[in-house]
Amino acid sequence: MTSDIPRTRPRGRIARASICPFAVACVLVLVAGSAGWVGAEESPIEFDQVSSMFEPVSVPAEKIHELAELVLAICAGIFVTVAGLLVYVVLRFRAKPGDEKREPPQVYGSNNLEAAWTIIPIIIVVVLFLATARTINEVERKEPMEGALEVTVVGHRWWWEFEYPEYGILTANELHIPVSTAEAPRPTFLWLESQDVVHSFWIPRLAGKTDVVPNRRNTLWIDTSVPGTYLGQCAEYCGTQHAHMLLRVYVHTPEEFEAWVKAQQAPDVIDPSVQEGRELFQRTACINCHTLDGTVADGTYGPTLSHLMSRKTIGAGAAENNEENLRKWVQNPAIFKPGVRMPDMKLTSEEVDQIVAYLTTLQ
Ligand code: CUA
Repeated sequence: MTSDIPRTRPRGRIARASICPFAVACVLVLVAGSAGWVGAEESPIEFDQVSSMFEPVSVPAEKIHELAELVLAICAGIFVTVAGLLVYVVLRFRAKPGDEKREPPQVYGSNNLEAAWTIIPIIIVVVLFLATARTINEVERKEPMEGALEVTVVGHRWWWEFEYPEYGILTANELHIPVSTAEAPRPTFLWLESQDVVHSFWIPRLAGKTDVVPNRRNTLWIDTSVPGTYLGQCAEYCGTQHAHMLLRVYVHTPEEFEAWVKAQQAPDVIDPSVQEGRELFQRTACINCHTLDGTVADGTYGPTLSHLMSRKTIGAGAAENNEENLRKWVQNPAIFKPGVRMPDMKLTSEEVDQIVAYLTTLQ
């Protein structure tokens, strides 16, 4: 049946004219973005590597990757079959000059066809369901495995707290773990907690994304034999600085890991040359939010400052950790992280110098 509604305007031409500038703009933005023209100043950190979930190096990430490949292969097969048949039908049965202007034979009801397009999708869904259920069963663990390194991860707006109960270590934003091999298994088991809102812990190459929920303890594990630095980030919108809630995971050889543990357990060196900064730090409100072993500072609102200089970044990945950036940060953290909960302490330039001089001794 043909439509009786008159066409009031030549739709095709208008649509084509309005799509073109939009498509051109999209392409320009993509090209500019990938060339680094857009937002280049907002990424002060040189990323060591791209963190791709298609290059897993840890057991749970590998299992998820295998499942993703299977699902992708099945979906690609369905797409190629359906799109291929569609193209074939469009070409094979297109209207040709000289065709009679009448409808082709109409077929109603075919038990074979209907059974086929009911049973085949059911089989596909059952296969996907079973494969997914198996992977979930392999990846989910409620309790730590034998000999695992346990770390409690607490999500805060907007940084990560890491506590190693076994070693009495408290640190932030940069997780250090040992490799785990077949001869010497040493998986890492994470307890995920939140101090405030829902966050999501995600290091694509090491494990699947797991939500970090207030008043609940979720779990995650990592088992990798490949040393290196792996990047991740909070993957659940949690407020203004969600994008600056980055994670770095350092996977060490057993010797390196032991050395890191020793260094973190050692008390921070008290350098007499920065005594003024140390006293000033203990007189200001810094101590209400930050913890620093060996001082009166025992706040838990912000990251611990013990061994601060052993970390590569400040502000949960907002900037590289060096003297220049520390000075800017102490002066006004919002420069790197607008909306950050650490206030501008209104220190004089001299006071900032003293505090930063002190902070940089915290190796
Ligand atoms: Cu925490 Cu997004």
